[in-house]
Amino acid sequence: MSEHNAAGLPPNSTILALETSCDETAAAVVRDGRVVLSNVVASQLDAHRRYGGIVPEVASRQHILSLTPVLEEALAALPGGWHDLNAVAATYGPGLSGALLTGLNAAKAIAWQRDLPLVGVNHLEAHIYANWLDVDAPAVGNAGQVGRVDESVAATQPQFPLVALVVSGGHTLLVLLRDHGDYETLGQTRDDAVGEAFDKVARILGLGYPGGPAIQQIAAGVQGAMTLPRAWLRDSYDFSFSGLKTAVLHKVQEHREREARVTQGKPKGARGADAVSRNAQTERGLPSPKADETPLGAQFVAQMAYAFQESVVDVLVKKTVDAARQFGATEILLAGGVAANIRLRAELSRRASIPVRYPPIALCTDNAAMVAAAAYYRFGDGVQQGWDLDVIANLPLK
Ligand code: KG4
Ligand code: ZN
Repeated sequence: MSEHNAAGLPPNSTILALETSCDETAAAVVRDGRVVLSNVVASQLDAHRRYGGIVPEVASRQHILSLTPVLEEALAALPGGWHDLNAVAATYGPGLSGALLTGLNAAKAIAWQRDLPLVGVNHLEAHIYANWLDVDAPAVGNAGQVGRVDESVAATQPQFPLVALVVSGGHTLLVLLRDHGDYETLGQTRDDAVGEAFDKVARILGLGYPGGPAIQQIAAGVQGAMTLPRAWLRDSYDFSFSGLKTAVLHKVQEHREREARVTQGKPKGARGADAVSRNAQTERGLPSPKADETPLGAQFVAQMAYAFQESVVDVLVKKTVDAARQFGATEILLAGGVAANIRLRAELSRRASIPVRYPPIALCTDNAAMVAAAAYYRFGDGVQQGWDLDVIANLPLK
């Protein structure tokens, strides 16, 4: 393993990073690529929730409104404010072009005005680098430290070679990392990303957005009898989740038909004991079922959520553990929004014979501290970008 120190930056260098690739406006200040001095995230969830997903134009406009206050809060952690910064970084892809542009242009303006070096960071790489952040360092800002890394690896830095499972709303990748910046994608999804599957299944089940936390919560404590198929795609590290989503849809349709037959002939309003009423669903902030749809029973929803989560976790864990074994990884890294999933963390840790490292929950979902961590090693490799750096919506992880 090579020990990088950011050769292009002075010791105790402080990087300001911005992240606006999707629906979080985030700014963070990180020292030496590891110590989180501030980590501020303004979520746009409320602006998008009513649409059941992210609306790109709304995201861009919201970033513009939030960037200045978020930046000010992040910089408040530095005694000298702007004067204490040594470098600036921003995510330049993959993501929504308009959203990415707001953060990248703000970073360019700051770098130009303060005469600081600028680096663009790949969002997927940033998710992986959340695992390099020191979770014990005190954090300032509303995205502070929550949760804990696997105790056995918490105090150390990841050692190469590593296998990383990157699971987010837009991506599902299994990656071999031989060194900083040396990546090989072993497998990826052939259709839906894992987070996307969580969100779509949650919508089918009448749960809220984002779907991951909603499914995790409702599946907790369920003793599942129901099972759903697993797409193994034998002899490949690729994934597929759209068939599973369709399986859930079919089960829901069958359930509705069965319920409709049972309730036929019963007096109006009489339903099963576990039915979630339209009103209850609306009160809980969940999208109410369409007028012509019977609400799903709470027990059925919990069973489906559980079976779906088990199916996803089983496939993710098996492929990750197999890849780690085949490539002699010293550790497994979990990254991305779905890495917040408690069941995935627990099952991967249980089935892997090597340590599993995952960031605290606040550093799994989109944030800028992870961007600063990745930027630190980019600067260390002598990378620096000019004013012509543009956003790349479908930027691959090399
Ligand atoms: O990384 P992220 O914040 O944004 C993207 O880059 O996509 O990931 C967001 C995704 C959403 O699909 C959300 O449903 C999922 O992460 N997610 C979870 C959990 N928390 C967030 N999925 C499963 N379990 C969770 N606890
Ligand atoms: Zn992300």
